[in-house]
Amino acid sequence: MSSLAPRSDFPLLVRNPSLHYLDSAATSQKPKVVLDAVREFYETANANPHRGAYALSAAATDAYHQARVDIAQFLGVRDTDCLIFTRGTTESVNVVASSWGHANVKAGDEIVVTALEHHANFVPWQQLALSTGATLRIVELSELQEIDLDHLRDVVGPRTKVVAITHVSNAVGAITPLDEVVRIVRTHSSAVIFVDGAQGAPHLPVAFDALDIDFYAFSGHKMLGPMGIGGLIGKRALLEAMPPYQFGGDMIEWVQDFDSTWNVLPHKLEAGTPNAADAVGLGAAVRYLAALDMAKVRAHEVALLERTEARLRALPECTVYGPPPSRRSGVISFSLMDVHPHDLATILDQHGVCVRAGHHCAQPLMRRLGVSATARASFYVYSEQKDADALATALVAAQSLFASA
Ligand code: ALA
Repeated sequence: MSSLAPRSDFPLLVRNPSLHYLDSAATSQKPKVVLDAVREFYETANANPHRGAYALSAAATDAYHQARVDIAQFLGVRDTDCLIFTRGTTESVNVVASSWGHANVKAGDEIVVTALEHHANFVPWQQLALSTGATLRIVELSELQEIDLDHLRDVVGPRTKVVAITHVSNAVGAITPLDEVVRIVRTHSSAVIFVDGAQGAPHLPVAFDALDIDFYAFSGHKMLGPMGIGGLIGKRALLEAMPPYQFGGDMIEWVQDFDSTWNVLPHKLEAGTPNAADAVGLGAAVRYLAALDMAKVRAHEVALLERTEARLRALPECTVYGPPPSRRSGVISFSLMDVHPHDLATILDQHGVCVRAGHHCAQPLMRRLGVSATARASFYVYSEQKDADALATALVAAQSLFASA
């Protein structure tokens, strides 16, 4: 099975033809069109957006704006100004937990998260609860590490102010049925729904406006874009009511000696010189993904998952975590015998196979699995069958090495 995107589009893969990069859930490789877009911005349009009356600054402003338009379209957002650029998902969660949270959450309220969350969508809410006196409620998981919707139904109620939930688990790949989550939350509460899309936007079609969620956060570097750029999408009324997260240039309307007023969206929430070049790079990335077709991206990953999982499950003493491939994104989280995942990852690296090992910034989940770590292989558009085969072959070699040790 060949890759969905030509590997020749990815300079790093071209330079390393024997590399089996299976850590795309941590960060994706970048196609040349993205690298070219960033370079072209600096070579042809580099000036500070929104600040100059000269043509070059207007070109920078236009390029930055066009990136916002393209990314909003890719994620199904009609109101382009409701897409705020951030450094990535982590910053997006912190913007909402801090700014919206401190303006709206008080003692006696309840904040709902799940045991599946990445620390980035767990700790900011935990800390908001601690600082406001609100109660943190944690939705538990099924035996296959999917969010227990019955428990969600029990936990959500009139006191719930916010439900923060992942679209896709970074650690085991479980996909959250967002439609059902929205139905449950809207039926039982008037809570705001915040979705961590770090592992959703790169792998699944996303239509924010159709979802009836309140916030969606994503990271560019996991979806073929540069590091250090990502976004927060929010419903206009919520974003407009939110106090600024940071103060500085471009986010103000007027600064009086003893008070200030704020610029309109999106500027109110984008203080300082923006990361325009990387936004432009992310714009190129989503155009590339749109041309591949996100439905095909999903189908490609499911096919790879099914084949790889069959090989891993055939290995004695190999445990694969998470739901079946049809309910999982392109992630296989596993353990082999009693070998520590870090040792396993080191052996796999000697075979040119890159996987992540550790707690995957999901310690609440690891505790529930009863392990301190797993090994995790993750696929993307440039992955192909020979990567999956290399993983399986390297695991057999690792198994015989550790069995004889
Ligand atoms: N959040 C990234 C991962 O899951 C780093 O690997």
